[in-house]
Amino acid sequence: MSTVLTEPTATKVPIKQTKILIDNKWVPSVSGKTFETINPATGEVLANVAEADAADVDLAVRAARKAFHSKAPWRRMSAAERGKLLNRLADLIEQNIEELATLESLDNGKPRHVARAADLPLVIACYRYYAGWADKIQGKTIPISGDYFCYTRHEPVGVVGQIIPWNFPLLMQAWKLAPALACGNTVVLKVAEQTPLSALRVGELILEAGFPEGVVNILPGYGPTAGGAIARNMDIDKVAFTGSTEVGHLIMKAAAETNLKRVTLELGGKSPNIIFADADMEQAVEGSHFALFFNQGQCCCAGSRTFVEEKIYDEFVERSTERAKQRRVGDPLDKKTEQGPQVDSDQFNKVLSYVEAGKQDGARLMCGGERVGDRGYFVAPTVFADVKDDMKIAQEEIFGPVMSIMKFKDVDDLVERANKTIYGLAAAVWTRDIGKAHHIANNVRAGTVWINCFDVFDAAAPFGGFKQSGIGRELGEYGLQQYSEIKTVTVKL
Ligand code: NAI
Ligand code: MG
Repeated sequence: MSTVLTEPTATKVPIKQTKILIDNKWVPSVSGKTFETINPATGEVLANVAEADAADVDLAVRAARKAFHSKAPWRRMSAAERGKLLNRLADLIEQNIEELATLESLDNGKPRHVARAADLPLVIACYRYYAGWADKIQGKTIPISGDYFCYTRHEPVGVVGQIIPWNFPLLMQAWKLAPALACGNTVVLKVAEQTPLSALRVGELILEAGFPEGVVNILPGYGPTAGGAIARNMDIDKVAFTGSTEVGHLIMKAAAETNLKRVTLELGGKSPNIIFADADMEQAVEGSHFALFFNQGQCCCAGSRTFVEEKIYDEFVERSTERAKQRRVGDPLDKKTEQGPQVDSDQFNKVLSYVEAGKQDGARLMCGGERVGDRGYFVAPTVFADVKDDMKIAQEEIFGPVMSIMKFKDVDDLVERANKTIYGLAAAVWTRDIGKAHHIANNVRAGTVWINCFDVFDAAAPFGGFKQSGIGRELGEYGLQQYSEIKTVTVKL
C-alpha cells in the first residue's frame, strides 16, 4: 500500500488556557475536576482541562443573564459598537493565526496546513461577516388597517446556550458566536470534550477584544453533564446544537420538558454525491475524493454515498481507488500530510467497525480498511465498491475515511434512492449537462446542493439540514433569524 505514515512529532506548544470562562474570569470548575485532552496523532496528553458540570453552567447562565439586563453595558451598547467588537476579535484571531492553527491541529488531529489554509480563514471571515450585520438588523413598518402605526423590532432572543462538536472546533465556535453576538444575545458555549483548547484560546482573545463581562462564557465539559445542563436550564432562552442526530433528539426533548427554549440543530448526514457519465472524469474523481476524505472523513456533509452512472462505473471505481491509495496519511504537522488521525479512540473504533460491516454485507473492499501505524488513531483511506442501498455502510453516518461507491442507471430511480435516507444535509452532482444538474438540485431533499464542486463554504451562504439533519439554518442573513425574536409594536394614532 502506498499510504505513507510519517512519524507524528510530539510538539510542545504553549497551552495558555485550560480553565472555564465565566463573567470574564478564568475559573476552575466548581467540583475542582479536570479531564485530559489528548493528541490523537500520538495518544499523549496535551493538557488537563477544567471539567464544567451543572453547577458551572448555572454560574455561567447567571453571568449571561446579568449581562443581558437592559441596563448592562452590552444592552446599552450601540449595534455599531457590537460590530466593532466582532471585527476586533476577527483581527486578534488573524494576528494569532499560526498559534491557533497549531492548537487546532494538535487537539483535533487535522493537518496543520489545512487548519491554517481552510479552517482559520473561514473563522475570521465569519466573525467579519456578522460584524457587518450587527447594525443592519432591522424590522419593518407595516400598513395595518385602522388608525395605527405598526412596526416590528428584531430583538435578541436572550441567553443562548450553544453546544459544539470536535470536527471543526474553531469554525463551529465562530458559526455559533458570531451571529448570536451580532444580534445582541449573551452566550453560554460548551466546547467538545475532545477539542477544548483552541476555543479557550479564542476566549482569551474575546477578553482582549473588550467584550463586556458575562457576554461570552465558555465551558469545556462532557455532553451528558455540562451539555445536558444547558439543554435543561430554565433560564436559557435558546439552545443551538451541532453534533449527532441521536443527541439532537435529546436536546429537543430536554427543551420540551423544561422551558420550551428555542432549538436549532445541525446534525448528521449521508449525503449523495452523484456522478453522471458526462462529467469531467478528472474533476469528478478528485472532487469526490475530497468530498469524502476531507477532514479525515469527519464532516457532517461528507459525500458519503457516491452514486456513479453505469457507463463510467468501472473506470471511476478504479481511478478513485488509485487516488485513495495515493492519499498521504501521517503527521498532522507535516506539510505534505493529507490525512491525520481520527479524533479519538471511540471514533477510530467506530470507523473500523463500519469497515467490518461493509465486508460482512458483501461490499467489495478496494483498498484500505485497516489501521495505519501502531500509535495514534490513523485509519487507511478505504474504498468500497458495489455498495447496495440497504447495507449498513450506505445508511449510517460513518464519519471516517471510508468511501462507498454505488452504481446507478436511471435518473428517476436515482433521485428516489438519493432521498431514501433519514438525513438531508447536502448533495452534489457532477455533470456537464445543465438540465440534469438542475433536475437533481431541484429534486434532492437536502439543505445544500453543490454542482461540480463540494464543500464550498462561505459565511454568506446558509447551511443546514432537511429531515433529521437538523432544524434551522446557520450562516448568511438566514442565520440571523435564529438569533432574533420578532416584536410587533402597534401605536394608536
Ligand atoms: P455528540 O453528538 O455526542 O457530541 C457533539 C457535542 O454534543 C459535544 O459537545 C458533546 O459533548 C455534546 N453532547 C453529547 N451528549 C450530549 C447530551 N446528552 N446533551 C447535551 N450535549 C451532549 O457526537 P460524538 O459522540 O462526538 O460523535 C458521535 C457521532 O456523531 C459521530 O461519529 C458522527 O457520526 C456524529 N457527529 C456529527 C457531527 C456534525 O458535524 N454533524 C459532529 C460530531 C459528531
Ligand atoms: Mg456522543
